[in-house]
Amino acid sequence: MAKLGTVISLMDSPNTSKFAFVVNDDAVKLVRKGQFVEMQHETGTLVAAVNDIFRSNRYFERAESVAEYERAGMMSSHFPVNEWSYTIAECRIIGIFDGNALHRCSFPPAPGSEVVTVNEQMLEKYLGFRQNGLNIGKLLNHDVDVRLGLSKLFQKHVAILAMSGAGKSYLVSVLLEELLERKPEDGRIGVVVLDMHGEYANMRSACFPDRITVYDASKIRISTKNAQPEMFPFFHQLSGAQKRMLNAAFYEHKRKAALEHKFFTIKDLMIDIAGIDDKKAISTRDALLDHLDSLHKMKLFGKVDDPSVTALVKPGSISIISFKEIDSEKKKQLIVAYFARRLFNAIKKGKIPPFVLVVEEAHNFAAEGVKREEMLSKREIERIAREGRKFGASLCLITQRPVRLSTTALSQCNTHIILRVTNPYDIKHIGESSEGIDSYMLNSITTLKTGEALVVGEAVVQPVFVKVRKRKYEFNTGGVDLESLAREYEKKQAQKKEDVEAFL
Ligand SMILES: Nc1ncnc2c1ncn2[C@@H]1O[C@H](COP(=O)(O)OP(=O)(O)OP(=O)(O)O)[C@@H](O)[C@H]1O
Ligand SMILES: [Mg+2]
Repeated sequence: MAKLGTVISLMDSPNTSKFAFVVNDDAVKLVRKGQFVEMQHETGTLVAAVNDIFRSNRYFERAESVAEYERAGMMSSHFPVNEWSYTIAECRIIGIFDGNALHRCSFPPAPGSEVVTVNEQMLEKYLGFRQNGLNIGKLLNHDVDVRLGLSKLFQKHVAILAMSGAGKSYLVSVLLEELLERKPEDGRIGVVVLDMHGEYANMRSACFPDRITVYDASKIRISTKNAQPEMFPFFHQLSGAQKRMLNAAFYEHKRKAALEHKFFTIKDLMIDIAGIDDKKAISTRDALLDHLDSLHKMKLFGKVDDPSVTALVKPGSISIISFKEIDSEKKKQLIVAYFARRLFNAIKKGKIPPFVLVVEEAHNFAAEGVKREEMLSKREIERIAREGRKFGASLCLITQRPVRLSTTALSQCNTHIILRVTNPYDIKHIGESSEGIDSYMLNSITTLKTGEALVVGEAVVQPVFVKVRKRKYEFNTGGVDLESLAREYEKKQAQKKEDVEAFL
C-alpha cells in the first residue's frame, strides 16, 4: 500500500461525493485518471476513483510576469520553478467499506487525510465481481479481472454501444468464449447470435466445434403454419379486400392443418386462392396471387421450421445464424422477427432452456421512430426486452448508432457496455439513457482506445473502465482491409485482360 497524497480543503470539497488531494512528489507516477484509491475514514475504508488530475505552478499563473522573465532568460536559473509545481487529483467517492459491504458515504472525509493505493484484492469485492462471473478483461489501471455475474449481466439485458471499429464484435466473441467455458454447476445458457456479416462463423473451427453450430440464414425455412399473414412483406400494401381474402384462406388452412396435424405451404395457399372464381373478386385474387408468387420464390416459407427453436437453443451451446448471404433488409427483419417470437413463446412454455439472443446491428431490427407494423422485428425485440427476464429470455443488443436504436429496447437494457463513441448525438443519447454516467465519464468515452470499455448498470456496483481481454481462441472474422480489396480488384482485372489476349 503506497502513500499517494493528502486531502486538501477547497471551496466545495471534501463533501460526501468528492474530494481532491495533492499528490506526493514521489507518487506522481502512481496516480492516473480513472484509477481507484482509498483512505481511512471514521466509518471504514473510503474508496474513491480519480476523475481528473490537474497540475499547477504559481510561477506560471501571471502571463505578463512569465513573459517578462522569459525575455530576461532568468527564469529557470534564478527560481526553483520545479519545486513550486504541484499536482492535484480530483476524486469521486464510491463508498465506504465497513468490512462487509460498500455503503454510501454520508459524512465527508477530513482534509489532511492520507490517500493511499487501493487494495486490489478488496477492489474485486468493492465492485461486486463474482468468482464464477464472465471475465471480460482487466480493470483499467489495475491488475484486477472484471468478472461480471451471469444473471446480473444478462437477465435484465445488455446493450453494447460503440462506433464502428471500436471493438463491439470482439467483445461479443470474448463473452461467447466465457459462456462456452462455463461449467454446468455454474449455470449454462444457450446463445443465439444473429450475425449480420458472417463474422463469427469461423469461431466454430477455433474452439468448441461440437458446441457451436453455424446456420446460413438464406437456407432457413419458416413453417407456414406458424407464420401470420402480417409477416408477409407485402401485407401492408394490400387493399382491405385482398387482406380479407388472404386471411380467410390462410386461417382456413391453418385450422385444417392443426386439426389433421399436417403442414401447408405458400403453394397450397396459392392453389386455394386460384380456385376462387367469383367474378367480382377476380382482380383481387390475381393481385394477391402475384404477391404470393413472389413470396413463394423467396423460398423462405416451407412446411416446418428449419432449424427448429429446440435445435437452436441448448445449454452451453451457441447457434450462429449468418445473414451474410441475404441482401434484403426486409427478409432479414422477417427472419429475426419470426425467430425472436418463436424463441420467446418456446421459453414461456418451458420448451427451451434460458438463452441470450445476441443481435448485431440492432438498430436495423428495433429502430427508433419506425412503426412496429413496418418493422415486425421491432415488436418482437421490444417484447423480449420488456417481458423476457421473467422467463430467462435475454437480449444482447449491439449497435454503432445508439440514437437510432428503439428507446424502449435500450431503456430495458440494464447494463450498458460502451466502447469508443465520438458522434456528439450518440454521446448525448448515451448520457441520457445510461444510468450513473457523469460528465467526466461521458468525456472519457470519446478518448477510449479500441478494446477499452465503460461498463455501467446492473452488472457492476459502480461504473468501471475495462480493458477487454484478448481472445483465447483467435479466429478470422473475414474482415478485409481496403488495401487487400484494391489489390484483389487489380489482380482480377489483369487476369481478365490476359484471358482476352490469350483468346485473341
Ligand atoms: N480487446 C481487443 N483486443 C485486441 N484487438 C481488438 C480488441 N477489440 C477490438 N480489436 C480489434 O479491433 C478491430 C475492430 O474490432 P471489431 O470488429 O470488434 O469492431 P466493431 O465495433 O464490431 O466494428 P463494426 O461496428 O464495424 O462491426 C478488429 O480488428 C479487432 O481484432
Ligand atoms: Mg462488429
